[in-house]
Amino acid sequence: MKTFFNVEDLGDLAQALQEAREVEKNRYGFQHLGRNKTLLMIFFNNSLRTRLSTQKAAMNLGMNVIVLDVNAGAWKLETERGVIMNGDKSEHLLEAIPVMGCYCDLIGIRSFAGLTDREFDYAETIVNQFVEHSGRPVFAMETATVHPLQAFADLITIDAYKPCRHPKVVLTWAPHCRALPQAVPNSFAQWMNAADVELVVTHPQGYELDPKFVGNATVEYDRRKAFVGAHFIYAKNWSCPGVTRPADYGKILTEDAAWTVDSASMALTENARFMHCLPVRHGLVVTDEVIESPRSLVIPEAANREISAEVVIKRMLETL
Ligand code: CP
Repeated sequence: MKTFFNVEDLGDLAQALQEAREVEKNRYGFQHLGRNKTLLMIFFNNSLRTRLSTQKAAMNLGMNVIVLDVNAGAWKLETERGVIMNGDKSEHLLEAIPVMGCYCDLIGIRSFAGLTDREFDYAETIVNQFVEHSGRPVFAMETATVHPLQAFADLITIDAYKPCRHPKVVLTWAPHCRALPQAVPNSFAQWMNAADVELVVTHPQGYELDPKFVGNATVEYDRRKAFVGAHFIYAKNWSCPGVTRPADYGKILTEDAAWTVDSASMALTENARFMHCLPVRHGLVVTDEVIESPRSLVIPEAANREISAEVVIKRMLETL
């Protein structure tokens, strides 16, 4: 595997889930693959789970790990082509990327959407330059439009806790005080479409996700209707994806508290499990009562980030 951005990169999902179960039982059993190999983790944005779980997964596989926080200690990087670099950015990405590639065998990258230029973000302008110029396999640790390590961990979690063969999974928009990217809901929808689940996406008007991620999911604007019969409620805020109105891309269209996931809305479900990728704002996205309830899966979901990362890095090491 040379790149990992989309669900198709992993191939057969049932096989990948089986591999995840094997890795979970024997997470130190593949150290021969990573010996004397180096993972470079590049962060343009903050992280807790991705940073820790990916580093842990690489160490489980016997790798050395270098972590670069681009905005804390590295030269400020210019990412645009054709500019005169007479500002505060000392180095261009076009030199920095191949240099970074010299010091490692694999690259993981986190680079969020800027949320001002939809075309720039949805073309994955930053991470595609790493794919093109680093000379190394590259995997996403959340890019402008996708977060596949999270979606794979979510799928592992749903597979472990599903009460029936074909569960109903609801992806629900929830309110937030800041404009957040669409990477998590995009990937979640993409992966659930590929999995053996019934996917329903619910959000206020204007928050329509890009159709290439929504796929065959049912879109239901009435959240109460969407929640009925659900086995999993996956909450996430996202800013306007600019699908129906491009001028609104990246904006907060509403902070309607009626969309906060609370006990009354969870009561509509089939005793659903609550999921969120974290970090989550209590009282905005979800009430304390719901996230602290025994039906909440947020901690096992985060724990599975180590497993999803280990499967992905293992597969990349196998093809070096
Ligand atoms: N879910 C997730 O990616 O968490 P971090 O942003 O803390 O890495």
